[in-house]
Amino acid sequence: MSETQSAKNTANLKIRRGGPEQPERHETFDFPFEDGQSVLDALRWIRGNKDASLAVRYSCISANACKECVMRIDGRTGYACTTPLRAGEMLIEPLPNKRLIRDLVTDTLPPDERL
Ligand code: FES
Repeated sequence: MSETQSAKNTANLKIRRGGPEQPERHETFDFPFEDGQSVLDALRWIRGNKDASLAVRYSCISANACKECVMRIDGRTGYACTTPLRAGEMLIEPLPNKRLIRDLVTDTLPPDERL
């Protein structure tokens, strides 16, 4: 694969890291991808290969059934498992209107469903 093709198919995921009491910071991870791969594919690869401490919630993995992978992707609310990767920088953040737990995980349970 040529250098041009390689650069064209690399997503640079700029991910919000840390907990609610920590100053906001971002870390960027490069992920070479193939057509059809999702943001969740990249996040799972980062956890498995680069940083096992990355907190991200998901369950059904691309069945779009559990809705647990909801987050902010490039400033819009979306599901990581159904959002395709694209070349260049992608901003990945937790939901802004929910209590932050850590990294990309927020408290999404309704109050009457919490233990
Ligand atoms: S992982 Fe279940 S909807 Fe995305």
